[in-house]
Amino acid sequence: MGLDMYATTAKEAANERNQETTQMMEGKSGLLDDRGEAAKRLAVNRILAGDCIPVMQGFPDACIDLVVTDPPYLVRYRDRKGCNVHNDDRADWVGPAFRQIHRVLKPDAFCVSFYGWPHVETFMTAWKQAGFRPVGHMVWHKEYASRTGFLQARHEQAYLLTKGSPSRPDRPLSDVQPCTYTGNRHHPTQKAIKVIQPLITAFSKPGDLVLDPFLGSGTSAVAAQRCRRRYLGIEKDKNFCAIAESRLAVADPDAG
Ligand SMILES: C[S@@+](CC[C@H](N)C(=O)[O-])C[C@H]1O[C@@H](n2cnc3c(N)ncnc32)[C@H](O)[C@@H]1O
Repeated sequence: MGLDMYATTAKEAANERNQETTQMMEGKSGLLDDRGEAAKRLAVNRILAGDCIPVMQGFPDACIDLVVTDPPYLVRYRDRKGCNVHNDDRADWVGPAFRQIHRVLKPDAFCVSFYGWPHVETFMTAWKQAGFRPVGHMVWHKEYASRTGFLQARHEQAYLLTKGSPSRPDRPLSDVQPCTYTGNRHHPTQKAIKVIQPLITAFSKPGDLVLDPFLGSGTSAVAAQRCRRRYLGIEKDKNFCAIAESRLAVADPDAG
């Protein structure tokens, strides 16, 4: 399963990642042209800068063991400093992105997708049209209200989706989990590593390849690395790619 990759120094790995990412974006890598060859040469433990739809189109079919992802919620989010999230103001990418996610997942595998509850129909339609089956719904309870309107907003939410019929985990997770506040130090809508890690442990095995096509500041890749999984992350914003690389290069990226 090639766990020897952990022997590579963080600096060497980052250099290699940058070189291959550049080649891939320039179309020089097998990832973009020859699917048969690409299947053999899919470079792992990489952060790929770009739009996840064309980037995933360069992946072979059925090469990913688990997808854990936190896509834009379609809510035109803006934090106190005025920072927003790419593609949070439009929904045309949702269907194409989840079609690619379904295609690149191996048969009988899981996808955990966070989503914005005001647009549940958009996400659910896209998931079902892509071929996913919703098999569970998870809620993370916040100790604080992230917004107050008709209600205090005190939860995050995700669907557990399956492609085919994966086996049930030996010890199923509770579908209500605690939510750790990150302080959004690395990303305006950052998830905590402690939120993502149990998902990776429950729905994949050591050495498996975990993909997050909406990587943000790299939380799922860091969580996968900590769980001794291989990872691939895709992120449109180059600044967040750089932040993710730096989080992956240190032993303890943050307490979250
Ligand atoms: C909700 S944030 C993910 C935050 C992440 N969970 C973290 O802890 O940092 C969604 C991310 O998806 C990225 N994004 C939006 N559309 C994208 C696309 N088509 N391809 C790749 N990344 C995209 C945004 O730039 C944003 O960083």
